[in-house]
Amino acid sequence: MTLRPTGIAGLDEILGGFSKPSTILIAGTAGVGKTMFVLDSISSVAEDESTLYIPITTRQVRRADFADTFPFMHESIAVHPIDRISAERDPLSALIDIGNAVASSGADRVAIDPITPLGSAFPEQEQHRFIGTLDSMAHEWGVITLVTGELTASEIHTSVVSHFMDGVLYLSYEESEKHVLRNLRIFKTPNIAGNQALSNIYAFNISAGGVRVFPYLKGGAAHPDLSVRVPTGIRELDGMLEGGIPETYSMMIAGSPGTGKTIFGLQFANESLENDRPAVIVSFNESPDQLIAEAMRLGWDLQGYAENGMLRFVYPSEQVSSDEHLWQIRDAVESIGAGSVVFDGITDMKTVFCGSVNVREYIYSLIRYLKYRKITSLFTSEIENVFSFGIPDAGTSFLVDGIVSLRYIKKESGLRKLLMILKMRGTDHDRRIKEYAITNHGINIMEWAD
Ligand SMILES: Nc1ncnc2c1ncn2[C@@H]1O[C@H](COP(=O)(O)OP(=O)(O)O)[C@@H](O)[C@H]1O
Ligand SMILES: [Mg+2]
Repeated sequence: MTLRPTGIAGLDEILGGFSKPSTILIAGTAGVGKTMFVLDSISSVAEDESTLYIPITTRQVRRADFADTFPFMHESIAVHPIDRISAERDPLSALIDIGNAVASSGADRVAIDPITPLGSAFPEQEQHRFIGTLDSMAHEWGVITLVTGELTASEIHTSVVSHFMDGVLYLSYEESEKHVLRNLRIFKTPNIAGNQALSNIYAFNISAGGVRVFPYLKGGAAHPDLSVRVPTGIRELDGMLEGGIPETYSMMIAGSPGTGKTIFGLQFANESLENDRPAVIVSFNESPDQLIAEAMRLGWDLQGYAENGMLRFVYPSEQVSSDEHLWQIRDAVESIGAGSVVFDGITDMKTVFCGSVNVREYIYSLIRYLKYRKITSLFTSEIENVFSFGIPDAGTSFLVDGIVSLRYIKKESGLRKLLMILKMRGTDHDRRIKEYAITNHGINIMEWAD
């Protein structure tokens, strides 16, 4: 038995691949993307494997009909349609037909779409026999057989088909206001490697290019070397922090609107870039163009870094699932080997994500991943109280290693700004309240003489 690629972007990382031979059921109700899934799976491997697609359908279909709907469909895929009514009433002839098609095509990978009509006009016991026969035939051929099934989640447990298959993947979707959130569940794995995925639900999306599943972010124990410090870009702040932020640490800047949180983030990103550490800026409210323009006013040429590939932005232009967003960050981070990440606006992220989002869980897995990659990160978060040092709610503040809090104070001279380091793990940080100002060159920290 060998492991072959699943042909679905992201899925190999979860399952390790599909065993060959094996039979895999892709189940779900109408419209979840089952046909898309199997066609993408066989198309992606069609350069290396001989592939066969068997649609079971009441319509007269030709190859071109599929190629129109699924532009990624590989031209080498053989298509052998089977009439649905005959498959229901005369499953044995359909099985012989399938067997002949597989034999004559010499296929390594076969997709039968959908399998559920096979013998559906017969009592369940009989259906057992047909599906059982198909399963043994598929193993005899030595191929990877993907079959789709029109089943609901509860039907999976009782269905004749899932009983025989080596792997069962279930596709579904939830509707949010404007988008559908697509989910993949692994009910049964086609190989041991996928066992750890059994209780998980993965987000996936469908685009013109096919299916992409979003694996969870890796994370692991990072052994922080507290002597390696990453400068923040604000000299006085570095002085307050024994030289900067410990390399694998994440820091949060908390403050009310207008206190300069975004500028803190831009200044940190610019400092990182000037020190040859590639950076990723994640934002929700402000577009990359807007951030680039603001940074330019402060003398930081982010455009230049973006053009030479040192800087990447992650800015969802439409609603995404939180899992897809994490994947976008990971993609950006790994494509440039980022050493720093600025995440501007924990508070704003909910507006961009479709479906329900657990902000704490999201931040937790992101921070675990950043530590694992030895990345220094700066998160900004909005607090409501303008005139006191505060930390954000939602339980994110204990996930970060350090918190700098920003506030306003009223003086006869006008509104002034104060800053305080509330915590920084592993650091004997300055505990005094400082004043700061936003200047044409960024943040400037001064002694606070009250
Ligand atoms: N060149 C500048 N000189 C002085 N103040 C500035 C300058 N540029 C921006 N600001 C101040 O910074 C504020 C915006 O900072 P920003 O980082 O966007 O705040 P936040 O992200 O906390 O909402 C503006 O409201 C303005 O008061
Ligand atoms: Mg801001």
